[in-house]
Amino acid sequence: MLPRMATPSRVFLVTGGAGFIGSHVVERVLALGDAAVVVDNFSTGRRENLAHLAGHDRFRLVEANVVDGLWAAVKPAVEHLGPATHLVHLAAQTSVVSSVQNPVDDVRINYGATVHALEYARHNGVQKVVFASSAATYGDETEMPIAEARASAPVSPYGINKLGSELFLHYYRQVHGLPTTALRFFNVYGPRQDPRSPYSGVISVFVDRAVRGLPLTIFGDGTQTRDFVFVEDVVRAILAACEQSGAPGPYNVGTGRPTSITDLAKAIVAATGSASPIQHAPSRAGEIVHSYANVDAARMALGFRAEVALEEGLARTQSSLAPDPSPATSAAS
Ligand code: UD1
Repeated sequence: MLPRMATPSRVFLVTGGAGFIGSHVVERVLALGDAAVVVDNFSTGRRENLAHLAGHDRFRLVEANVVDGLWAAVKPAVEHLGPATHLVHLAAQTSVVSSVQNPVDDVRINYGATVHALEYARHNGVQKVVFASSAATYGDETEMPIAEARASAPVSPYGINKLGSELFLHYYRQVHGLPTTALRFFNVYGPRQDPRSPYSGVISVFVDRAVRGLPLTIFGDGTQTRDFVFVEDVVRAILAACEQSGAPGPYNVGTGRPTSITDLAKAIVAATGSASPIQHAPSRAGEIVHSYANVDAARMALGFRAEVALEEGLARTQSSLAPDPSPATSAAS
């Protein structure tokens, strides 16, 4: 066993910490002088996202699947850094489409892993659990902006399991006195979001294609709207929730501003100075038209307000892209 280091005041257990959002959380935790233990099975997370932190004395990376339980996996790390004080549960199967195709897997991962995380927290003196829920819990809500008090009617296994996880947070809080917060993320974007999967967020796809000079394809007429929130703002919401022993939520994490997909495509073409044409394809089946958040509750309970404007976020997303040597013609359409 490694000699135990001088115990930092806060130790964050971050499930899914090698992912797009998780890796930004870990960077921030370390920058604050706290310690981070990442648990990730690299199903969607990537070692490269944390490679620059290797050797950091307040950081440990554990390759494990949360659905196998956390005790044994994190034992050496918490013996070295000290017991976990905060648990940020981000590990998930992230695709709505996959959840429709494999609902049993989605239950096991997106519902089951939450219970494993909560059980670990309950038995190990964790002071606060923050959970990444989703706007998908709202389903086909049409009244905008969407407020948390609206009845939830998810229309995918993904949304159902996020909502079910929120109920488990409520149960652990009520019955076991474990402080928890559920945050419902809207459309998160920023550096390290993988553009190359069929389920990638539209901003990662459009920025990637724009810098390669490939056409941007809008599904439908482009008047549909989304609430795009920059990953650093999401990290601030997570850390604000960690500061509170109360504030159970759920709270929307968005900007409160709708952006149409046509406006987004134009902004990305302008921001990248790209010659990419904008083209249209049929709408995605079953897709909601509008989605943007009422952000009052998060502001009142957490003091959270998104700060990064879309133009700035797009510029920072673009500048984070490493030069890609692959020729434009080889990219998937
Ligand atoms: C998002 C979330 C998902 C969440 C769901 C429900 C992301 C990446 N996905 O899906 O996790 O559960 O909301 O709240 O945040 N589009 C194009 N061209 C493209 C790609 C997308 O026009 O090449 C359009 C889509 O048709 C859609 C919009 O862009 O209208 C956003 O798509 P996407 O980024 O995939 O996110 P959501 O469908 O909103």
